[in-house]
Amino acid sequence: MNKPVPIIAVDGPSGVGKGTLCQALANHFKWHLLDSGAIYRVLALSAIKQAIALEDESQLVQLALNLPLTFNTDGCEVKVLLNHIDVTKDIRTEQIGGAASKVAAINTVRAALLQRQRDFRQAPGLIADGRDMGSVVFSDAPVKIFLDASAHSRAERRMKQLQDKQNHVKFAQILQEITERDLRDRNRTFAPLKPAIDALIIDTTSLSIQDVFNQSIKYINEKLAL
Ligand code: C5P
Repeated sequence: MNKPVPIIAVDGPSGVGKGTLCQALANHFKWHLLDSGAIYRVLALSAIKQAIALEDESQLVQLALNLPLTFNTDGCEVKVLLNHIDVTKDIRTEQIGGAASKVAAINTVRAALLQRQRDFRQAPGLIADGRDMGSVVFSDAPVKIFLDASAHSRAERRMKQLQDKQNHVKFAQILQEITERDLRDRNRTFAPLKPAIDALIIDTTSLSIQDVFNQSIKYINEKLAL
C-alpha cells in the first residue's frame, strides 16, 4: 500500500506566528502550503461584497461550495485570487479577520470547505496552517504543532505587521479585536480552537522566530524519522 502523503499540521490563535513558521517550513521541506485561514477570509470578503449577511447559513454554504478562489504561487509569494481578482491585501484586515471568524463558527460552512482543504494534500507533503488542521481536517497528520502566546504579545506582533503595511492602528483596538476573535474561535461549538491531544505545544511569547523554527524542525525530524 502507498504511504499517505505526510502532513505537518500547525494550529494556534491569530498573531501567534503560524504564518511565518509555516512559510519557513514549506521553504525548508519544499512542500505545499495550505493557509486555511485565507479560505475563511475570502469567503467572508465575498459574502460582504455580495451583501450576504454573515449569519445567513444557507447562502453562505452555497457561496462556500462555489467559491471562485485560487492561490497563485510565484516563487515564495502566494497571491490569493477571488474571481481572478487579486485580494491578497484586502483579506488581511482585522475587519475581515473578524468576519471570517463569524462565518467559520457555522458548522455547515466548515463542512462545505472541508474537501477543498483536504485536496491540498499532495506529494511530497503539506504544511497546513489553521485552527483545526490537527484536530479535524487532517486528524491523521503524523506531526501536529500548536503555537500559543499571550494575547498581549500577539497584539504587539499584529500591530507591527499592520504598521509595516502603512495601516494606522491603535494597540488597544487590536488587542480587543484579537481577544474577541480568540473568544469566538475557542468557544464555538464546532471545531473550536484547541490543541489536538497529540500536538506539541510551543509557547512563542518569549521566543524568536528562529527559536520556534528550530524547536519545530527538531520535533518534525524526530516524528518523521528524517
Ligand atoms: O488564520 P486567520 O487569522 O487568517 O483566520 C481567520 C479566521 O478564520 C480565524 O479567526 C478563524 O475563525 C477562522 N479559521 C478557522 N479554521 C481554520 C482557519 C481559520 O475557523 N482552519
